[in-house]
Amino acid sequence: MDNREKILIIDDELAPRESIRMILKDQYAISTAEGALEGLDIMSRNSVNLVVMDIKMPKMDGITALQEIKKRHPDTEVILLTAYASLETARDAIRFGAFDYLIKPFDKDDVLSVVGKGLAKRRANTGLKLERDILLDRASYLEEQVNNARSNIMTCYEGTVNALILTIDAKDHYTYDHSNRVARLSYSLAKAIGVPDKTVKEIENAASIHDIGKIGIEENILKKNGKLTPDEYTEIKKHPAIGARIVQSVPFLEDAIPVILYHHERFDGKGYPEGRGGEEIPLAARIVVVADAIDAMMSARPYRDALTIKKVLDELRDNTGTQFDPGIVDVILNGSVSLL
Ligand SMILES: [Fe+2]
Repeated sequence: MDNREKILIIDDELAPRESIRMILKDQYAISTAEGALEGLDIMSRNSVNLVVMDIKMPKMDGITALQEIKKRHPDTEVILLTAYASLETARDAIRFGAFDYLIKPFDKDDVLSVVGKGLAKRRANTGLKLERDILLDRASYLEEQVNNARSNIMTCYEGTVNALILTIDAKDHYTYDHSNRVARLSYSLAKAIGVPDKTVKEIENAASIHDIGKIGIEENILKKNGKLTPDEYTEIKKHPAIGARIVQSVPFLEDAIPVILYHHERFDGKGYPEGRGGEEIPLAARIVVVADAIDAMMSARPYRDALTIKKVLDELRDNTGTQFDPGIVDVILNGSVSLL
């Protein structure tokens, strides 16, 4: 098999076609065509590295053929042959993608030199293209690996969150239902205030385990029907810190810690455990504070009935800026998030 680089010479005149062929035939595999259409036909069947082509030809001229070749075979370099009279046209052709041009009558060394350079360019382009393909392959492989790893982590994450949720359920079914509702409402609130989708999901997951620390609180306090004594209340107030400690041991639950730890802080700084105020309380926790309070008010408890929606809205209005972040309460008061 002929492994030499392939050159196609297209010229309707025999003399220049043959003289170019004679110059190149020792170094390259040459084919010839008497017109552009025949040339394009050859190119559709065989790969050609470089085309040497006359500009002035009947049927299809060299400039039109050049554009056609560049459209169908963008990697093939084209060198145009021109008479001195059409030198301007040849120069213009460079912008249509011609590599260079040769002026008739041509000198043997010029032909060899220009053809050699054209082929070198083509080799360099092919090399670059190969490298780019390899890099693209590698990139898509890595992307796939990252996606797999991410989906494994998500499976792990969801499994762990579910296990924690079921642990709460086993201890206190009210907290379990409440947590699910707070998670849903936190999701709607976060979306309504324009939190990015990925973070909305994180907030929802964190909200579903915001009370996980209640696992560490005595059941008789947790389920007490009457009013709590000051000591019992002190005990209850430990659940954010207990929850944060539980979740700390799970690296990919880190994002839930601020929600667990700060969901009993108040916007005016009078909450617990740290008495943080305003934006010192992470946004996710400020969202869950509102969702948590709404769900508590809307749930019937052994010691009181559920509040009506009107009463809940009144409470939100009365406590915005003190207990709650006004920016979050707003999306409920303005109807962006419905409590129905
Ligand atoms: Fe809580």
